[in-house]
Amino acid sequence: MTSLKISTDRTELDVPMIYRFLSEQSTWAVGISRSVVDRAIENSMCFGGFIDGRQVVFARVVTDYATFGYLADMFVLPEYRGRGYAGELLKTILAHPSLMGLRRLILATSGAAGFYEKYGFTAPQRPETLMERYFPNIYLS
Ligand SMILES: CC(C)(COP(=O)(O)OP(=O)(O)OC[C@H]1O[C@@H](n2cnc3c(N)ncnc32)[C@H](O)[C@@H]1OP(=O)(O)O)[C@@H](O)C(=O)NCCC(=O)NCCS
Repeated sequence: MTSLKISTDRTELDVPMIYRFLSEQSTWAVGISRSVVDRAIENSMCFGGFIDGRQVVFARVVTDYATFGYLADMFVLPEYRGRGYAGELLKTILAHPSLMGLRRLILATSGAAGFYEKYGFTAPQRPETLMERYFPNIYLS
């Protein structure tokens, strides 16, 4: 199997591909604009995974690099799924020196909880202590 090259260099990212996936194929960000994707990338710690120079995996962490992080927009292009690439990327994220010692790393998922459980994520231990302001259709308005 060809090995995945992982980079945190934003300039290496295939932003048109990330924008296309999120705005057209994701289950959470359909309709998102290119300018919002650009701003999110610019202000996150981003991870890209590349096979033979082509970016096939993406994830970003919104973080203060000290106490807290939010893992967002993780995806593998459909034709590259089931080959361990998401697991490789997630292990790299969890082992990254800039993300060590966080008190809490959270994420939201509707279909991939079983995937994240393999890497130590659980449902919130005390859901009654978590609150949110949530506008799931904001990109469609
Ligand atoms: C979820 C996703 C990132 C997994 O990518 P992938 O490259 O296929 O995952 P991997 O091949 O690295 O899988 C690693 C392990 O997780 C398991 N797994 C993968 N997707 C899973 C899912 N949706 N639910 C439960 N387990 C899953 C695999 O079976 C594998 O298990 P193993 O190590 O015991 O063999 C990918 O399917 C995807 O991009 N989905 C659409 C976007 C999405 O839902 N992103 C998450 C939003 S929060």
